[in-house]
Amino acid sequence: MAEVDRILGGGMVPGSLVLIGGEPGIGKSTLSLQIPLCCKDLRTLYVTGEESARQVGMRARRLGGDDSNCSIFCETLIDAVIAEADARRPDLMIVDSVQTMYTESVDSAPGSVSQVREVAAALLRFAKESGVPVILIGHITKDGFIAGPKILEHIVDVVLQFEGENRGSYRILRSIKNRFGSTSELAVFEMTGAGLREVANPSELLIPMHEQGLSGTAISAMLDGARPFLFEVQALVSSAVYGTAQRTATGFDVRRLNMLLAVLEKRAGFHLSAKDVFLNMAGGLRVNDPACDLAVICAVLSSNFDFPLRSDICFAGEVGLSGEIRPVAQTDRRISEAARLGFKKIYVSSFTARMKTVKGIEVVKVGDVPELVKKLFK
Ligand code: TYD
Ligand code: MG
Repeated sequence: MAEVDRILGGGMVPGSLVLIGGEPGIGKSTLSLQIPLCCKDLRTLYVTGEESARQVGMRARRLGGDDSNCSIFCETLIDAVIAEADARRPDLMIVDSVQTMYTESVDSAPGSVSQVREVAAALLRFAKESGVPVILIGHITKDGFIAGPKILEHIVDVVLQFEGENRGSYRILRSIKNRFGSTSELAVFEMTGAGLREVANPSELLIPMHEQGLSGTAISAMLDGARPFLFEVQALVSSAVYGTAQRTATGFDVRRLNMLLAVLEKRAGFHLSAKDVFLNMAGGLRVNDPACDLAVICAVLSSNFDFPLRSDICFAGEVGLSGEIRPVAQTDRRISEAARLGFKKIYVSSFTARMKTVKGIEVVKVGDVPELVKKLFK
């Protein structure tokens, strides 16, 4: 799988231990099963403590591909797993999941901190001694990182985090630790009826699918990892029905949203305090690139004024507490990607140092929020 190889920094290193973490139901088992199905010559041992061999077999058939070299082994005792792997010496071992495995040398229940640590240490030993790469799956719960992946980060070589909104069909695989490559990589997948599909060019999916002329949307040129891509930010501003205004953000930090609204209130004289504000990142993306600030405030203002923005403009800028628009990393690459996708204008900070000129796209520099409002909404 080209995208998985890229995230790993050019494929899987022999003897490495790779952790794939994510919330239950996000698609970790699906992704790891698709790896052997895609590489039919890879002799894989798929160890499952969560499902029966029949269930995994059924899933493999549904996903299509060739499973003749993929053996499924149901076991939760880690010593038995390692004995089996030692006997078979597969090209790849997958262990689903760390929370279901246990060792008899520790008294506590499977999934407890000490069990998880022991299991991972045993797998690491096996990987290093045998040279067999191991993919270990770990669940992370929504309300934080209980007994699991967090304590594993130090032990394993690579940590890949699988994320996305459960309702949406897009999933992001992010590398958060990699002893063999960069951690600024990200891959996008789409969950379909036949498993996960690699989305080689995320921008084309995440920009609008509606006609021009809708208020409350703005396109952000974001950079996540090493790759720039564009996606739509959507906002809905309406009068608060009840006393306190509601602020909801999907895929965006709600405290950051509150801060941006406070900046609009204080520096640009908008009275949003009596308004409900709902914010949504297209495709169920979860963003943390500060460059999205500018698109967020433009989407909010566009909805507030019921003023549609042109569909061929996009934004990349961080908004500071005093309303200034701050430069963001790798502006050039964002501009190039926007131009490649046919955007005609990109709004960036006027404090951006050197910028190359890219054919076909006009770069508009803005210094602060009032100036932005004047340029866009007046
Ligand atoms: P799964 O890989 O079991 O998640 P995890 O191991 O992270 O808990 O995937 C769970 C979801 O994926 C499940 O809700 C159904 C969905 N799915 C599809 O939409 N299409 C498919 O082809 C498969 C295999 C799963
Ligand atoms: Mg699973």
